[in-house]
Amino acid sequence: MEKSKVRPWKLLTAGAVLGAALILAAIAGMRFSDSRPFCSSICHVMEQAAVTHVNSPHADLACNECHAPHDIVAKLPFKAKEGLRDFADNIRGIDVPLRAGLETRTVVNNNCISCHRNTVQNVMMAKEYCFDCHRSVAHQKKTPVSFREAADE
Ligand code: HEC
Ligand code: HEC
Ligand code: HEC
Repeated sequence: MEKSKVRPWKLLTAGAVLGAALILAAIAGMRFSDSRPFCSSICHVMEQAAVTHVNSPHADLACNECHAPHDIVAKLPFKAKEGLRDFADNIRGIDVPLRAGLETRTVVNNNCISCHRNTVQNVMMAKEYCFDCHRSVAHQKKTPVSFREAADE
């Protein structure tokens, strides 16, 4: 009887290559959908946020390095939920600028701390969120200069 032409090692190699390609594609998709080009091109409600982000000291970061949990298990459901909401807002054409909800504030704040741990680990927080003081490190200042009581509101 003729031997099968398909060698098991060939199948295994093909499987491994395909698996690796799928993983790389998933990572590339995740990276791209975290980024400024994606967020600002898909959603016009994000335009202002994207413009102010370009001029910030964090311009090199992807949007979701602040706006989604870093831990992948928490990130996927959060990203899906927020993405769907932004998508719906975009279609309904809601007013900008948007205001961050409580959950987003917590997520963003945890990310500030995780990147700046060395700077802030011995600091007592006088406010609830880092961006209560560092308002403009990511986007524009919230209050016009003539109405501000502190420099960075
Ligand atoms: C350095 C961290 C950081 C980066 C990077 C960043 N943001 Fe933000 N973002 C913030 C903070 C802080 C706020 C304000 C939260 C508040 O005022 O309550 C905010 C608020 C927002 C808001 C309004 C509230 C909301 O969550 O819907 C939008 C929209 C937004 N960002 C979109 C973006 C987009 C789009 C990008 C990428 C182009 C981006 N952000 C990059 C930190 C960041
Ligand atoms: C993914 C990591 C990361 C996250 C998340 C992040 N930062 Fe930063 N941050 C950096 C890096 C890197 C720099 C240095 C940028 C530079 O000097 O070019 C920086 C710079 C800064 C500076 C100095 C700004 C200046 O004017 O030079 C402050 C203040 C700061 N971050 C606060 C925050 C706050 C508040 C948050 C949350 C809203 C935050 N960061 C989120 C990485 C991060
Ligand atoms: C009560 C106001 C306040 C709060 C809240 C606050 N900061 Fe600051 N932070 C300052 C001031 C003032 C400075 C020194 C001036 C500057 O560099 O902006 C500073 C400096 C920094 C720097 C160094 C900036 C540089 O130029 O090197 C980083 C990074 C930073 N803060 C991150 C954070 C993070 C992360 C949090 C949240 C855990 C936080 N801060 C909470 C007021 C605050």
